[in-house]
Amino acid sequence: GAGELRELLAGRIRDVPDYPEPGVLFKDITPLLADPEAFGALTGVLAGLCRERGATKVVGLEARGFILAAPAAVRAGLGFIPVRKAGKLPGATLSQAYELEYGSAEIEIHAEDLVPDDRVLVIDDVLATGGTAEASLRLIRRTGARVAGVAVLMELSFLPGRARLEAALEGAPLDVV
Ligand code: PRP
Repeated sequence: GAGELRELLAGRIRDVPDYPEPGVLFKDITPLLADPEAFGALTGVLAGLCRERGATKVVGLEARGFILAAPAAVRAGLGFIPVRKAGKLPGATLSQAYELEYGSAEIEIHAEDLVPDDRVLVIDDVLATGGTAEASLRLIRRTGARVAGVAVLMELSFLPGRARLEAALEGAPLDVV
């Protein structure tokens, strides 16, 4: 059942204290990725969400989002579109800057990868401040495509990520697996 799946996945996420800097508790998904039963189950759940949300394309957020989004897209029979950190995509891009706790960041998408008829599911590993996911929704909407939803493996609920993302979702669902 869903509870057993959650237990399986949670048991394969390793908490690493003070990484990458003191005071930060890093959620390491590499044990999950190394376990074909857990990774396969997660991929199946994410592919199911693609169908449930009526997605026509899947966007993954660099870098760990790629690892989860790509197999889910293939399994759902949908195209995979990378949202990358600035300067990595060779074609015509749309760019979106966003604020971090200290400083700012910028992400990009190939403009031609989405069309106005698309409904896009965004997949990432962690929702922390929500800044990256929020910026990705802006990018998607700037292509004219619609947002089918956001799906993440984990939510760091001590950070106000959900609240920040809520407004940007404009009613689209947020799924935490
Ligand atoms: C992490 C994580 C999310 C984002 C969440 O990525 O994978 O993409 O941060 O943070 P936010 O909700 O505060 O925006 P990171 O930038 O560490 O990149 P990586 O996946 O390439 O390691």
